[in-house]
Amino acid sequence: MVGVRALKTIWLNGKLVDWNDARVHVLTHGLHYGYSIFEGIRCHETPRGSAIFRLSEHLDRFLNSAKVYRMALPFDKAALAHACIDLIQSNEIPEAYLRPIAFSGYGEMGLDPTKSRVEVAVAMWVWGPYLGDEGVRRGVRATVSSWSRIDSRSLPPQAKCAANYANSGLAKMEASSAGYDEAILLNSAGMVAEGPGENIFRVKNGVVSTPPASSGILRGVTRDSVIRFVADEPLPFQRTDFTREELFSADELFYTGTAAGITPIREVDGRPIGTGEYPITRLLQQRYEDAIHGRSDRYASWLTYVGEAPRSSSPAAGGRSVGRREKIMKREPLPATSGRSVRGSARGSSEEVGV
Ligand SMILES: Cc1ncc(COP(=O)(O)O)c(C=O)c1O
Repeated sequence: MVGVRALKTIWLNGKLVDWNDARVHVLTHGLHYGYSIFEGIRCHETPRGSAIFRLSEHLDRFLNSAKVYRMALPFDKAALAHACIDLIQSNEIPEAYLRPIAFSGYGEMGLDPTKSRVEVAVAMWVWGPYLGDEGVRRGVRATVSSWSRIDSRSLPPQAKCAANYANSGLAKMEASSAGYDEAILLNSAGMVAEGPGENIFRVKNGVVSTPPASSGILRGVTRDSVIRFVADEPLPFQRTDFTREELFSADELFYTGTAAGITPIREVDGRPIGTGEYPITRLLQQRYEDAIHGRSDRYASWLTYVGEAPRSSSPAAGGRSVGRREKIMKREPLPATSGRSVRGSARGSSEEVGV
């Protein structure tokens, strides 16, 4: 097992603390009941130093997740953005994965999380592509899971809550123990939803498609970026449901995600996908690599440059926080980045803009 390599600091409740001091009590409420919301964000090296990819959209999704779960975050969006920047500056690692997380803390037990204090942390670590460099190059072998994806009548898939990942973990373990690299989950209607931690795209006869938000997926930031690349090419695009057998008949299939990047799927349940050449996937991988590494003027507004952000002279909370009824720690917003997405009505079925 490859463990996380310790870096210097973790941002915890408004302060940068030593890596080894970022601890919680074993009776932390969220640990028992799955009541924590989180994000996965990456920063990458660019010619202008480290840049965070689509920070604004990730933090919007974080705030939405908190809202769904009635979690009163003690930090506003700008304070969280500064936390990410301060953390990267402090650890001096230009390429990393960032994990903002908020959870119901130590204090009360029982099933009403609103009685517990909300704790917020941002950690970072060095993490290669989730399905491996080889996966990105050659493609991965996937299996359709016997587990259905959670649906919004039981757990809201669009809120990135730790509880959702018990479902993902079951699918992942099933796939791994059967010798596959990754799972594909169907929704309760039997249509393709997504991977355990990735969205999925299909290419057939030159048309790119992905299941709509209503299929019960997390609306991925990478998915949104790919939809934008497809629109800008332009390639024909549909947000549409597809079936298990339409996985087998695809010319190309690929996963998208902050952790996985854009990873081709070369086989589903013993059926090779397409011819083994994935020209559209390769094109989109190229667009993505250019965007995240600051080589594309067109997508420049998606990057927040860590070294160019206003330096944080007084960290957000300046100390420990932060009861639910205490005031929210606010910061000056960073200069705006505009994460223009593709309007669903213009391309495929309707879906609101953004993630
Ligand atoms: C269930 C699930 N679907 C899709 C994604 C891809 O989302 P993103 O591209 O925002 O990382 C993730 C990763 O966060 C995920 O956990």
